Amino acid sequence: MSSPTKPNEPWDESTANWYATHYGDWPTTCMPIQAETWRPDEALVDIGCGTGSSLRHLTALCPQGRLVGIEPSPAMLAIAQQQTQQLGLGARIEFYCAAAEALPLADASMDSVLAFSSFHHWQDAALGLREVLRVLKPNGRLLLSEEPEILRLHGIILESLQQQLQAAGFSPPTQRLLTQDAAACHLIVARKPALGVLDKPQPPGHESAPAPHTQEAR
Ligand SMILES: C[S@@+](CC[C@H](N)C(=O)[O-])C[C@H]1O[C@@H](n2cnc3c(N)ncnc32)[C@H](O)[C@@H]1O
Repeated sequence: MSSPTKPNEPWDESTANWYATHYGDWPTTCMPIQAETWRPDEALVDIGCGTGSSLRHLTALCPQGRLVGIEPSPAMLAIAQQQTQQLGLGARIEFYCAAAEALPLADASMDSVLAFSSFHHWQDAALGLREVLRVLKPNGRLLLSEEPEILRLHGIILESLQQQLQAAGFSPPTQRLLTQDAAACHLIVARKPALGVLDKPQPPGHESAPAPHTQEAR
């Protein structure tokens, strides 16, 4: 069994409720977290956080961390906020209604960016990846997970995805297949180079225009 497959489907109230009931706490929301290590004060953002399940898991692992959830569907975001409040974790997670293509976060402010079962929904993957690189600190990591069945249905080749990340400016990614009971997901981890491609000193006369700075929402 795997989660919804249609790209860019409207995540309206009915779809959001259906997703929350069937997949809100699906093992893929937690497996990539268990497979990685976390600093107690980690600053991280979950792009397409859905019901917020992954972020709630992370509250225990990152007790002093800054945990941010980005979700473009108001219906899904409302579920995430409600479930988080119900568990008394409302003060621990910041939620914003936004998409991968325009992250309401400051440059170089995040240690980790999560995109669990969300990347294949992004309308403009290249722009989204530029945003991920912008908000990551040097050597920060992107954790991108997708279910094998979803990749197959969308015709996404794992190797091409890894190449896409490198072409966008990430260091060569690692890839693992994680499984638990009936659930499976590929976890790709890619780092922003310590000295980013965009930050590399240019020879005289080849300096690029400074990147526009983004106002941080807090
Ligand atoms: C299959 S759900 C995954 C939710 C959650 N990450 C999880 O693992 O349960 C995909 C999510 O991606 C969101 N999404 C769709 N387009 C997006 C975009 N352009 N940027 C960020 N998230 C997007 C959807 O609203 C939806 O909540």
